[in-house]
Amino acid sequence: MTVTVRTENLWKTYGGGGPHQVDAVRDVTIEIERGEITAIGGPSGSGKTTLLSLVGLLTRPTKGKVLYGDQDFSGLSEVFRTRARRQRIGFIFQAQYLIPQLTAVENVALPMLCLDVPRSEAEKLAAIRLSSLGMNHRLDFRVAELSGGEQQRVSIARSLMNAPEILIADEPNASIDEKSAEELHFVLREMVERNKLTVLLASHDAQVLNWADRRLNMRDGKIVD
Ligand SMILES: Nc1ncnc2c1ncn2[C@@H]1O[C@H](COP(=O)(O)OP(=O)(O)OP(=O)(O)O)[C@@H](O)[C@H]1O
Ligand SMILES: [Mg+2]
Repeated sequence: MTVTVRTENLWKTYGGGGPHQVDAVRDVTIEIERGEITAIGGPSGSGKTTLLSLVGLLTRPTKGKVLYGDQDFSGLSEVFRTRARRQRIGFIFQAQYLIPQLTAVENVALPMLCLDVPRSEAEKLAAIRLSSLGMNHRLDFRVAELSGGEQQRVSIARSLMNAPEILIADEPNASIDEKSAEELHFVLREMVERNKLTVLLASHDAQVLNWADRRLNMRDGKIVD
């Protein structure tokens, strides 16, 4: 098995020194296998989102390492971290992060425009990606005109446009119904099987946790079994 990313003795302390100091992540050492869905469960406040944002290079650890291959990104400058994030990581945020006034295709094409891909080319690739997710009949619909599940698929299409090594999804079913969640599961599983995509997700929903090949549980910032 190949490891995509691992953490070593990772800590994240919020509100350092003050009365609200919280060790949100405490001494976490994990390995995320390539081509698998790894799911993190655990109660509210146990540190799941914090761990995802550390692995996704959105937050800097207080202590410890985040390694992609042999490279530790925890201490690198924001320029390198941002570049790594753009090139190697996809995020499924809640569907609300889409721009409602733009069409499905325009939303998906947007990150490519930031990488200087010409607009017509970006939109062509976006349409192909959306179609592969069963959205060919909604390409020119504005996001505001789409259902929750359709918006979720736009989010997935957008997060996959940079061909990430790892897709990070926090509570991926939060804004969609059970049927759309099952569709999402199907799409993710297909990407994992076909493209060896690595997925790291967090949820407290049993339905979502059952998607995992490997399951980790958090409690009070620590991985427990
Ligand atoms: N930006 C922040 N500033 C200060 N404290 C924070 C911040 N984010 C999280 N925390 C603290 O860290 C702890 C862990 O939060 P986190 O969001 O990682 O939990 P979670 O497991 O994702 O919870 P949930 O299931 O409710 O989403 C929380 O109890 C909170 O007090
Ligand atoms: Mg959370």
